Amino acid sequence: MKQLDEKAARYIVDVISANERPVLGLATGSTPLGVYSSLITAYQQGQVSFKQTTTFNLDEYVGLPSSHEQSYAHYMQKHLFEHVDMEPNAIHIPNGMNADPQQECNLYDKQLEKAGRIDIQILGLGHNGHIGFNEPDQALIRNTHVVELSETTIAANARFFTSRDEVPKQAITMGIGSILHAKQILLIVKGEDKAHIVHKSLCGPITTQIPASLLQTHPGLIVLLDRGAAKNLNL
Ligand code: GLP
Repeated sequence: MKQLDEKAARYIVDVISANERPVLGLATGSTPLGVYSSLITAYQQGQVSFKQTTTFNLDEYVGLPSSHEQSYAHYMQKHLFEHVDMEPNAIHIPNGMNADPQQECNLYDKQLEKAGRIDIQILGLGHNGHIGFNEPDQALIRNTHVVELSETTIAANARFFTSRDEVPKQAITMGIGSILHAKQILLIVKGEDKAHIVHKSLCGPITTQIPASLLQTHPGLIVLLDRGAAKNLNL
């Protein structure tokens, strides 16, 4: 596992080193935790500085303040930002407390546009094939939008909350268009419980019912899997 995390961190460090003003797309969840910890080690060892880096997170829950332990803003501070030399105003995470979530989405899209293309977008994978919080649907939305979380996503994320009722029902997520607009995408998946959805996403038909299957169309897709997640692939 450490090997996988270090490899992912290496891709990110290389992107930061190769660009004067790197733009990173960041993800939350349990999957990238080890990657962030490897990035912190690289920073502490003087291999990388985040001073010129701009970041955009994929998503945030609606209704959770950044001080809430389960907000993605809190997660990012705790697991990466407070340990490295990021400029606070270069950090972008949708504000789930904006009284007008649609206005927040428009603002986020403007910020994304101003920053130019994301150099590398880190992605985890939901059990139902969601990326960010782009849930399976008949159609997918290009830009940042408010999403109703699916029952499976609420159930999966309930493990982080005291009870299932506490899990927010809505989130703000970057759209599929913004994700696919990134120059490179680093998809990281761990665990046998995701072997089935990894296979469907990477080898099955491209369908909005499995949002991650759209990644098959991206010329700069890098996939990092542990043995469990890769179990159903003929490698
Ligand atoms: C969450 C996040 C996704 C994440 C996914 C998988 O709901 N919104 O960005 O990739 O679920 O999470 P985990 O890595 O904990 O399995």
